[in-house]
Amino acid sequence: MEKRAHYGLIRSLVGKKIFMALTGLFLCLFLVAHLSGNLQLLIPGYKGRLQFNNYAVFMTTFPLVKMVSYVLYVSIVIHVLDALVLTWRNRKARKVDYAVKSGYGSSLASRNMGVLGTLILVFLVVHLANFWYVYKFGQTPYMTTPEGHYITAKGEVLPDAELRDGHLFAGGLDKGPAMKDLYEVVRQAFSEFWIVALYVLSMVPLGFHLVHGFQSGFQTLGLRSGRWAGLLQKTSLAFGIIIPALFAVIPLLLFFLPEKFN
Ligand code: HEM
Repeated sequence: MEKRAHYGLIRSLVGKKIFMALTGLFLCLFLVAHLSGNLQLLIPGYKGRLQFNNYAVFMTTFPLVKMVSYVLYVSIVIHVLDALVLTWRNRKARKVDYAVKSGYGSSLASRNMGVLGTLILVFLVVHLANFWYVYKFGQTPYMTTPEGHYITAKGEVLPDAELRDGHLFAGGLDKGPAMKDLYEVVRQAFSEFWIVALYVLSMVPLGFHLVHGFQSGFQTLGLRSGRWAGLLQKTSLAFGIIIPALFAVIPLLLFFLPEKFN
């Protein structure tokens, strides 16, 4: 009877590790997509502002993308909860550990995945409060052309429109929601030194977490063997350096070279 309970426990821990691997690799994919979207912040002038704000409309209204973002929220929650359970069980049993134990900078990271993950979680809470919450529920400025005309969320410029409760009215007609200026929210945030410092510093634990987590995810799924093992380790290292570094470059450039980008 006791043996059965033991196997049950092992099965549930293996299940949790598989869920952690799947959600973690999905979060890696999200990071690549998120980074590509955010790099549009570096397109100079009005063109970049319009492109980034159009992209934000697409990301928050296109049905398929909206569905994927619900998967994202669930993945973050599962990843964090499974990590808590595994760490707790691990402490008790000292038997279940991350699969990959060595490699470029990975051993240090593998022993500290919980701490690194917690730092990333703190960053994420601040980050979502900075942008996601403000865009969805806060006071966001509205996008205007250089001539000062409002634009609808669908991209129609309305020279004589009036803005009421987030909607544009022209000739007495409701022309739909106005385009929000998320670019401006990001620009303002990255004009403050402490926010820039927080973003840049937070990319360090993210990098270590990714260097280890990326390869560990593949290993847990049984996708690390033979010649691919070495390549996976190098890919993991590259992923953990390049992605956080590019994320860090965005606030740094907007802070130090504001006249180039705005
Ligand atoms: C320069 C760095 C970054 C910038 C400028 C940035 C910008 C943004 C903006 C503007 C939003 C709100 C957009 C929206 O709701 O569609 C957002 C959402 C989000 N960001 Fe970031 N981000 C950065 C780095 C990161 C990093 C490193 C992570 C993860 C560790 C992250 C995770 C998220 C998540 C999970 C959301 C919510 C996405 C959704 O609702 O679909 N971001 N980010």
